[in-house]
Amino acid sequence: MKTIGVLTSGGDAPGMNAAIRAVVRPGCECGMKVYGINNGYRGLIEDDLQELNIRSVSDIIHRGGTMLHTARCLEFKEEEGMQKAIDTCKKYGIEGIVVIGGDGSFRGARDLSLRGIPCIGVPGTIDNDIVSSDYTIGYDTCLNTIMQMVDRIRDTVESHSRCMVIEVMGNRCGDLTLNSGIAVGATAIVIPEISSDVEKHVIERINRTIKTGKKHFLIMVAEGIGGVAELAKKIQNECGVEARSIVLGHVQRGGSPSARDRVTASLMGYEAVELLKQGIGNRVVVMKDDKIVNYDIYEALNMERQVNSQIYKIAHEISI
Ligand code: F6P
Repeated sequence: MKTIGVLTSGGDAPGMNAAIRAVVRPGCECGMKVYGINNGYRGLIEDDLQELNIRSVSDIIHRGGTMLHTARCLEFKEEEGMQKAIDTCKKYGIEGIVVIGGDGSFRGARDLSLRGIPCIGVPGTIDNDIVSSDYTIGYDTCLNTIMQMVDRIRDTVESHSRCMVIEVMGNRCGDLTLNSGIAVGATAIVIPEISSDVEKHVIERINRTIKTGKKHFLIMVAEGIGGVAELAKKIQNECGVEARSIVLGHVQRGGSPSARDRVTASLMGYEAVELLKQGIGNRVVVMKDDKIVNYDIYEALNMERQVNSQIYKIAHEISI
């Protein structure tokens, strides 16, 4: 391939810039023309792209967000939008695209590939919800951000002998909630994968720890479950503990990427451009057992998620 594009799509994630850099530099170095497509798939529809060179990606490795900006583009799901995107690719001679994003972005990559523009997906989302990959770019930074915020919340919760019910992002995946819950020593963790009778479960856990002398409580709830304010009220009424709630929100998505995210993004971006260099498309670059490998994009999208219920069990056994 002589001309390729790179875009970031869906929610931004720390480390996306490192991935862009790792696509652009090796691409340019081997003589490819590399276009940065702005605002995800919308940039293809609106003909909003820029040619990048090795210096265009200087000083971005440490920055959160994405220099190419991002969007969730509904128009791209329709035939007319798709056709406009293909026309833009033809106009610039784009023969392959690296798509950095989540599952929804990969579905877009699959659809473009089906119409003759081979794409390579790179998993970039804080949610860690891409079934084919053990790890997604941005997850580690986000997990650490949550942990740091909750450590601060703990100071005040402890001082006031209160309970704080904390809503964590993650789309429909409980990984951020579960693992941050372990890291902060939460009394209860509620995730969508294992969530029967939430109120009963949380109240039982709090009451049990009260009996052992515990006076302050952190309850981590995945965003898909919702109702954190109501849950806090219920806890206050049923457990006799003053309770508050907080939705951590978009602060979880920002910030300078961790070393793990910078390194993983760099390796994944590099692998993606290597595939395009060899004329290989329709793949997703993923992490499996600590190795960077690639899978067929259709196969990857059809994989089924396995829930690690053992980790959930351990989390609760050690947080009493
Ligand atoms: O996919 C990343 C994510 O932050 C999810 O955790 C969350 O559900 C969603 O994006 C929020 O989307 P938006 O920024 O469009 O509100």
